[in-house]
Amino acid sequence: MSESTRTLVVTSALPYANGPIHIGHMVEYIQTDIWVRFQRGLGHHCTYVCADDGHGTPIMLKAEQEGMTPEALIEKIGEEHRADFRDFGISFDHYHTTHSPENRACSELIYRRLNEAGHIVRKDIDQAYDPIKAMFLPDRYVKGTCPHCGAPDQYGDNCEVCGATYSPADLADAVSVLSGEAPEFRSSEHYFVRLADFEPVLRQWLASGGLNGAAPVQPEIANKLGEWFDAGLQDWDISRDAPYFGFEIPGVPGKYFYVWLDAPIGYMASFRHLCERRPDLDFDGAWRVGSEAELYHFVGKDIAYFHTLFWPALLHGAGFRMPTAVFVHGFLTVNGQKMSKRTGTFVRARTYLDHLDPEYLRYYFACKLSGGIDDLDLSFEDFCRRVNADLVGKVVNIAARCSSFIHRHLGGRLSARLAAPDLHREAAAASDRIAALYDAREFGKAMREVMAIADRANRYIDERKPWVLAKDETKREEVRDVCTVGLNLFRVLMTFLKPVLPRTAERAESFLRSGGLAWDAVATPLLDHDIARFEPLLTRVEPKKIDAMVADSMESGEGSAPAPAPDVGTEERIDIAEFAKVDLRIAKIIGAKLVEGADKLLEIRVDIGDGERTVFAGIRAAYAPESLVGRQVVVVANLAPREMRFGVSDGMILAAGPGGSDIWLLGVDEGAKPGMRVK
Ligand code: MSP
Ligand code: ZN
Repeated sequence: MSESTRTLVVTSALPYANGPIHIGHMVEYIQTDIWVRFQRGLGHHCTYVCADDGHGTPIMLKAEQEGMTPEALIEKIGEEHRADFRDFGISFDHYHTTHSPENRACSELIYRRLNEAGHIVRKDIDQAYDPIKAMFLPDRYVKGTCPHCGAPDQYGDNCEVCGATYSPADLADAVSVLSGEAPEFRSSEHYFVRLADFEPVLRQWLASGGLNGAAPVQPEIANKLGEWFDAGLQDWDISRDAPYFGFEIPGVPGKYFYVWLDAPIGYMASFRHLCERRPDLDFDGAWRVGSEAELYHFVGKDIAYFHTLFWPALLHGAGFRMPTAVFVHGFLTVNGQKMSKRTGTFVRARTYLDHLDPEYLRYYFACKLSGGIDDLDLSFEDFCRRVNADLVGKVVNIAARCSSFIHRHLGGRLSARLAAPDLHREAAAASDRIAALYDAREFGKAMREVMAIADRANRYIDERKPWVLAKDETKREEVRDVCTVGLNLFRVLMTFLKPVLPRTAERAESFLRSGGLAWDAVATPLLDHDIARFEPLLTRVEPKKIDAMVADSMESGEGSAPAPAPDVGTEERIDIAEFAKVDLRIAKIIGAKLVEGADKLLEIRVDIGDGERTVFAGIRAAYAPESLVGRQVVVVANLAPREMRFGVSDGMILAAGPGGSDIWLLGVDEGAKPGMRVK
């Protein structure tokens, strides 16, 4: 690929700072990182920025639940996110936070410009309000009966049973999931961006050729946008009332920018922060209308709407350039299903790293990724097979085999000539094809091309049989020739794989002792050259490590190991008769709510087979009330009722763990029914 140096600014979506990074997120960061490393490898000036998305109601509430300030929470989570990304080899130039002075400045600037240009309107709207928590409720914080099909316990924005969409006011018997109280509907003034103002420019943007005539969005997304245009673009509500964790709207006390306003602006703010530290970067140059710099956003399909409608509209309305392209990817499933804590397939990035090499997942996702928006599946069996068969069995194995002969008999030196120049030339000639595939994000196809070369290399070695030649002292130079071809093919392969396998490539670089593996050097073989002793570049995946990772990811195991059981001396033990006095029973939770004035307690209603009881449990930091309803637990049914400040607790629910948010209810399989005795 010979073209002049391009300037690229690339982003991945900003993860919410209220929870851990999981392997689903990693699809996106790995996809972006491979693309970025590839572009840099071609010599382009490519800057990759990201940040934590730190604002919004869920983060505010989570901080409250954990008894910390939102600032402290996002600081703590931000550190965990950075460590996860670093350990997966994600090569951000900068990782910022949306709760930053730069982002406040950029957000205020964009808002001011939109306002001055008349794109902001104010309207009174009715919204659910929790009288106990004294706050307006986002739609997802209201639950009730679906007005269309009557399904109980549905969110305030749509019904998961019949798919209807509505507003919280339409729900029958609506309750706030925060307090369990019926919400009021109060009016308040909100600020809106008039998106319809931007329809012509958005249509123009979508039809624009972009770089090399490529459209700025994929065809599936363009179709979706067409539908939205046809339905008419609604005004977009960008304000939220206090209490809210975010930036206050300048000149409008008590009103805040909605998190989705300042989140994408976080891309710009992260870049701006970096520009202040890197003289080679030019903020205005990158963001002005008509900029030569290319701007790319990688995002999941769930947030395509924000990036292909709102964000370009904000940019344009505030006098900035629009994105060159938004690259949308699909969602990760594991073993064919949605990731689930119950089956241990909701794997945190950190849990993965505790057990497995990140290079494996980078390669596996590369094999599965395309330029499209289809979902991709991680099958653990397929994962093992591909990593072991392709990476270890085909690629690394070439280096292991060839280097051992070269070191054992030939002083670690490569031949001065290439014995199979056609084979090498053919492999190197794939570079344009592979580069085009990387550029188009067709990583799966690129990996297939690379493995086809690896197959040819192995076939060559198998045919020449260096292990047979090596037994004959007169054929030593032939051995050197065969291994020189093998190692040069390995070098070509590792150059092609370097964007995917940065750490393995680094180890290959020190093994080959020829400097950095460079895309434009693949055609020139390494000859008459000393190589280092072979150190294992990558080891096989052991299936038992996957099992251990899954076990660690099971609902109760995620996060921290159970505390060891205390030693119990025989003299302190109870006999069976004493134990039999404890009436342990299966109970089903039929209701749960917060207890006003008690920040550790939940008031839980259980069905114990022959009746219902109310039990107070100190598990509020670990469980949201709405997550409990329907679960089966173990209760001590014959505990004497206890008078508490908030009411009478009639029984006890069993849980394990040191306390706080580290506590887990003892689960019961589905076959068990309320009222069954525990034996
Ligand atoms: N904070 C917003 C993004 C703001 S960007 C201005 C957000 N955060 S997120 O943490 O929920 O998701 C971050 C990215 O990870 C999104 O692009 C999302 O699509 C992606 N993924 C989250 N779960 C995923 C899978 N299971 N599979 C693939 N990508 C996934 O959305
Ligand atoms: Zn419904």
